[in-house]
Amino acid sequence: MPPQNFCLRQMRRQIDVEKIRTLMLLILAVSFSLSGLGQAFAQPLFSPTQDPIVGSRIFGAKGCSKCHAIGGVGAKLAPDLGRVSTPRSFYDLAAAMWNHLPQMSKQMQKIRISRPQLSPGETGDLIAFLYTLNYFDRPGDPKAGRGIFDKKHCVACHQIGGTGGVIGPSLDKLTQQGSPIFVAAAMWNHGPAMAEAMRERGIGRPNFSSVELEDLVAYLKSANPGREAERIYLLPGRPDEGQELFVKRRCQECHSIKGRGGKVGGDLAERRVQLGLVQFAAAMWNKAPAMLKKMKERSIPVPQLRAEEMASIVAYLYAVQYFARPGDSRRGENLAKTKGCISCHPIGGKGGNVGPDFRKVEGLDQPATVVSAMWNHASTMEEKMLERSLEWPLLKGGEMADLVTFIQLGGRGR
Ligand code: HEC
Ligand code: HEC
Ligand code: HEC
Ligand code: HEC
Repeated sequence: MPPQNFCLRQMRRQIDVEKIRTLMLLILAVSFSLSGLGQAFAQPLFSPTQDPIVGSRIFGAKGCSKCHAIGGVGAKLAPDLGRVSTPRSFYDLAAAMWNHLPQMSKQMQKIRISRPQLSPGETGDLIAFLYTLNYFDRPGDPKAGRGIFDKKHCVACHQIGGTGGVIGPSLDKLTQQGSPIFVAAAMWNHGPAMAEAMRERGIGRPNFSSVELEDLVAYLKSANPGREAERIYLLPGRPDEGQELFVKRRCQECHSIKGRGGKVGGDLAERRVQLGLVQFAAAMWNKAPAMLKKMKERSIPVPQLRAEEMASIVAYLYAVQYFARPGDSRRGENLAKTKGCISCHPIGGKGGNVGPDFRKVEGLDQPATVVSAMWNHASTMEEKMLERSLEWPLLKGGEMADLVTFIQLGGRGR
């Protein structure tokens, strides 16, 4: 496929060769420009753009890859950052980086590398890169997937590697794509015809849990392994395009995003649980009958979606999820007290006098700026803490969001 090859070549050229190269063959390239979203949301996390491809380069250039592997590729001195299975937001990652700082400093002294400084832009790109790793869902179990292929009667109509029915097309072609997004798009587009074929033969339309779908995708992949280098987890999704598609393909007539849009299908941003890629694919399949029914009622034609378009919609939904959990500055102020920040930092003159007054810090008006400031000052903070035998304050993702918001608002708990 020419566009993919083109992308791949371009990526190769762009990316710091070292370890990152092998890595990039595995890693999806999401051109994750959020510029178009800035206007839609009052408080963009990054301005003007954040770019995971640049982030991957920073990951190499700043020496993160000297300790961390991604999905099994790379050094083994620290946790594999591609294998953390829970969904993560910007703040979860920022908190993880903060929490591991003391351990990391120790490792760095051991292998004699200096602690990298990160600019706000670099912090944004780096976190975008780590964030997109989320697209790697739990590696599925191909054996279990084979069982599901039988149990859900797919095998009655589809061939994989030469065995199975011939009522539907062979799925070998799909197996070459590593990403569940291709499967999701294909199943969405063919869903109505498939349901019809199932009805004719008295086969019930199966539902999938996301674990089942993961296993099924793993089976599809293993049935046609191909060469590892050709298996690109390419997700050329762009949130700004996704946002446009969401309107153009009329999703918005039934779904709202943060309260804006239709009410028929529910809000797709206000979920308590973050959407993973496979969960999304499973939901699109499982909810298709309900959606198709409503579309018919409203004479909305069933939109056909190319895989790239599906990827952009996913990227868009990711992006709105990204913005979904803003911090609370009042809670942030309380945390500054309970986490011991004020033993060094005064707030409006009250508190310690070791670090700068939170009311007087300047230029920390973006989350990425605050996070990079915390990261860059951490060595000094750590030293001062050691002097005082204070323990490094650990933060949860939500707490990081609250603290950052508090600092961003000039140390005001509002
Ligand atoms: C010298 C080795 C070293 C380097 C370099 C390093 N780290 Fe780490 N990192 C560690 C160790 C060790 C841990 C685990 C610490 C712990 O268990 O408390 C860790 C943990 C993490 C975690 C938390 C993982 C989790 O469990 O969720 C993140 C995120 C992270 N590092 C990001 C980075 C980034 C980004 C860079 C580059 C700027 C980087 N690290 C550079 C050693 C390193
Ligand atoms: C009763 C027969 C039948 C069953 C059972 C069935 N399918 Fe299909 N499937 C079809 C038909 C027919 C098509 C082609 C529809 C069209 O032309 O739009 C299709 C198309 C597809 C496609 C799109 C293929 C492509 O080349 O784009 C995918 C993916 C797919 N099916 C997956 C599955 C999975 C996974 C299962 C098991 C849950 C399943 N199917 C069960 C009949 C079936
Ligand atoms: C005619 C109305 C309608 C349109 C148009 C529509 N949907 Fe839906 N959608 C629904 C309904 C109804 C549900 C089922 C809600 C439920 O059962 O919770 C649903 C469910 C979903 C779900 C699962 C949500 C969840 O949390 O389980 C996703 C994802 C989704 N739609 C995405 C889309 C996308 C993307 C588009 C545009 C390509 C779209 N929908 C267009 C009506 C619609
Ligand atoms: C042991 C003392 C100490 C503690 C506790 C401490 N800090 Fe600091 N902090 C400092 C010092 C000292 C600096 C200035 C470091 C420098 O200039 O390199 C600093 C700098 C900062 C900066 C950068 C300010 C700027 O002007 O760029 C931020 C943001 C910050 N700290 C946040 C926090 C938060 C949030 C906490 C609580 C989780 C905290 N600090 C706890 C000592 C501390």
